[in-house]
Amino acid sequence: MVQIGVVGVGHMGEYHVNVIKMLESNGFVKFTGIYDINESRMKYVSEKYNVPAFDSLNSLLKKVDCVTCAVNTDQHYLVAKEVLNANVHLLIEKPFTLLYREAEELVEIASKKKLMLQVGHVERFNGVIQELKKKYLKKTVYIEAVRMNPFGKKTRDTGVILDLMVHDIDIVLNYFEEEISDISSYAKKIYTDFDDFAIANILFSSGLVASFKCSRASYIKTRTLAIAQESNYIFMNYDTKEIEVYKDTNSHFEVDQRELIYYRGGFVERITVHEENALKDEILHFINTVNGREKQNFSNENDLLVLKTALKIVKTASKNCDIPYEGDI
Ligand SMILES: NC(=O)c1ccc[n+]([C@@H]2O[C@H](COP(=O)([O-])OP(=O)(O)OC[C@H]3O[C@@H](n4cnc5c(N)ncnc54)[C@H](O)[C@@H]3O)[C@@H](O)[C@H]2O)c1
Repeated sequence: MVQIGVVGVGHMGEYHVNVIKMLESNGFVKFTGIYDINESRMKYVSEKYNVPAFDSLNSLLKKVDCVTCAVNTDQHYLVAKEVLNANVHLLIEKPFTLLYREAEELVEIASKKKLMLQVGHVERFNGVIQELKKKYLKKTVYIEAVRMNPFGKKTRDTGVILDLMVHDIDIVLNYFEEEISDISSYAKKIYTDFDDFAIANILFSSGLVASFKCSRASYIKTRTLAIAQESNYIFMNYDTKEIEVYKDTNSHFEVDQRELIYYRGGFVERITVHEENALKDEILHFINTVNGREKQNFSNENDLLVLKTALKIVKTASKNCDIPYEGDI
């Protein structure tokens, strides 16, 4: 049976631990242990979930086939490199790395060593995206992605483009598979030294336009995707798992001496996708690729393209606005 560990058991890492405990109890995997540089945090998670804590990354890597990694983003590259060089398969949280060349190097190591390298673009496993992919992606003309969070007190080592917008960039690039011809973007610092609010537009060579808006300065949490196609308009909500498909039947104006009336005929198909745990599906897919039961359902080339696009959006915004750009694109 595949032996798995978790590296970095902070906010997100605890979700990984919780899911892997669940998968272990269902007989999918052996949960070998956890490692975190913060000893008191590691002790807390180890006791809460009754999972062994290791005193170094190296000692954990000697005992496992694969790890999921949810360390802070500025540590992704160093930790990922150590994991892969120890011949251990890796699921690394998003964003892949802070620099493009770091991600390229990790992909190269994984490829040479024939190791699974999965990036935690969890929305790929969201039920609404699976449903959308099955039925609705035809002749799209316009896409609008909105991802808003209230501001939290967590440590911030990136802005919202790399932290939040990257999920929507991944969905759009992965499922629409179009060539990018232009990018425009603007961003604003509000609470941190990074972009806390950002908007970006991507023009694809087919003429498709995708517009992205994300923020961690909102009082409400929003995660929606609107897709205008030639024959309908789709509005979906990642959180409520609802998809609405608007279809026109007919519309016309009627004018008389008293009023102007606009008739709009149409119907809405409402689909609610069964509530699934996307993180569980993401980690299970990783485990199943490690044990050879499933083929990796995405490519590392796409992961690189997502990171490159996100970095270009930050770079473009930094030319227009007062936000830092520390990338290498
Ligand atoms: N997929 C998602 O939707 C999602 C959501 C939230 C966070 N994340 C990602 O998860 C990662 C962690 O975010 P978080 O909010 O949990 O941060 P966090 O600060 O709560 O947790 C990070 C943990 O990693 C540990 N750590 C740091 N460097 C380490 C190292 N070298 N070795 C071992 N442990 C180390 C820290 O001590 C801490 O406990 C980030 O990359 C973030 O982008 C993804």
